[in-house]
Amino acid sequence: MKIKSICCIGAGYVGGPTMSVIAQKNPHIKVVVVDLNAQRIADWNAKDLTKLPIYEPGLDEVVSEARGRNLFFSTEIDKAIDEAEMIFISVNTPTKTYGEGKGMAADLKYIELCARQIAKVAKSDKVVVEKSTLPVKTAEAIQNILDNTGNGVNFQILSNPEFLAEGTAMRDLTIPDRVLIGGDSNDNNGREAIQALVDIYASWVPKENILTTNVWSSELSKLTANAFLAQRVSSINSLSELCEATGANVQEVAKAIGMDSRIGPNFLQVSVGFGGSCFQKDILNLVYIAKSLGLNEVADYWNQVIVMNIHQRDRFAKNIIKTLYSTVSGKKITFLGWAFKKDTNDTRESAAIYVADSLIDEEAKINVYDPKVTASQIQTDINYLNTRSEDDNFKYLKSENDPYIAAEGAHAIAILTEWDEFKTYDWQRIYTIMQKPAFLFDGRNVLDKEVLEDIGFIYKGIGS
Ligand code: UDX
Ligand code: UDX
Repeated sequence: MKIKSICCIGAGYVGGPTMSVIAQKNPHIKVVVVDLNAQRIADWNAKDLTKLPIYEPGLDEVVSEARGRNLFFSTEIDKAIDEAEMIFISVNTPTKTYGEGKGMAADLKYIELCARQIAKVAKSDKVVVEKSTLPVKTAEAIQNILDNTGNGVNFQILSNPEFLAEGTAMRDLTIPDRVLIGGDSNDNNGREAIQALVDIYASWVPKENILTTNVWSSELSKLTANAFLAQRVSSINSLSELCEATGANVQEVAKAIGMDSRIGPNFLQVSVGFGGSCFQKDILNLVYIAKSLGLNEVADYWNQVIVMNIHQRDRFAKNIIKTLYSTVSGKKITFLGWAFKKDTNDTRESAAIYVADSLIDEEAKINVYDPKVTASQIQTDINYLNTRSEDDNFKYLKSENDPYIAAEGAHAIAILTEWDEFKTYDWQRIYTIMQKPAFLFDGRNVLDKEVLEDIGFIYKGIGS
């Protein structure tokens, strides 16, 4: 089986970049990315490449190379499904906000809608690839829907989880540590489908980095990878509190343990807490699956990673309040950074949202500057928590396009995202325009404590 035409449902942070690279590396395959959201598709088709709907370093170059050649963005979902031999499902799978598994399980309604639509439209055999992160055994449900509502054609389901991290997505896609493909190798059609997908990646990924497993191992590996990564962040964050209480320095500890080749240096950067669309959702999912199987100790073990993350965010907010003489009412606090990490405009589950919420509870006036996040996104994020009226949120939370204006007259600055540009600011100038004493809470430990203290700031990093 040689694939000539691919359709991807979902033009988001995962579908957009992934399909761009697949198209770039496979000029002989037509790749059509479709989405229900017409505005998103229009943005992907924007002539001005700075207007693409997501910000990801290097993405514009790949899009400009492939778009219009063999990469297309369209709202014609049925047509794209009909034409493709292989369909990627890359729609979002948020945590359920209702019913059974509320707050924990993944909401699969979009996945089911996609499966039903594929079944309805398909008049020839299709390989359906799960790109979205899904709970173990979702493939079984998709297979059932396809087989029972389809037009009698053959569907092969593969799991091909995404390991790209935002901000480094293009590098992660171009030189992935591994590509994981789960499929049914006991069946001839299954083996063919697996090979067809292996061939697509083999255009640029060395064969030894393409792993094939059974579908369930693949689905579970994705959840587990994110759970392990998040666990490292929670582990180092938990130690930051211990360091603060004892006089040890968490960055020194991280360096010392990271040089142990068995532990390794990555994902030991202390922070105000992890965010992003995946970590919390995937762990909750793992916890939910374990609980449903009666594995309570397993569930509790992973749940603690989330408990620690929430604690770290709360602790940061409480420390600001306590340090500002236990009252922040009416005080201006400047946030530098709102995205959940640097080099992305994505704010999903960003620690900044929760820290802001805690400070607004205490009537602080927050002024945000983020190089890539829009003012309307910031309002949407805080309103999404549903803590108070939108008018009240607007009263307490503002944003600026210039960091110096954002810092004018502030009692404190809090760094929430590790954007590189923060290091290049004229901190002397910022100090001059702030209220005194000028406090700086570095939630990412990115600034130079000694330099800032020499200027006159009262500097509080994390974990020392
Ligand atoms: C991805 C994965 O799919 C998710 O499982 C993973 O855990 C996080 O990353 P992401 O690409 O980040 O999701 O989501 P998002 O940027 O929200 O994109 C999803 C797109 O799918 C949206 O543009 C949405 O409009 C579209 N969509 C959703 C459809 O086209 N059809 C639907 O039925 C539902
Ligand atoms: C993650 C996974 O890394 C990726 O493989 C998967 O496909 C999707 O989920 P992403 O959420 O984009 O990617 O970002 P990641 O770099 O993993 O960071 C997640 C959060 O952890 C961020 O808020 C980040 O700031 C935080 N983090 C990361 C730390 O606080 N300390 C660290 O040392 C590393």
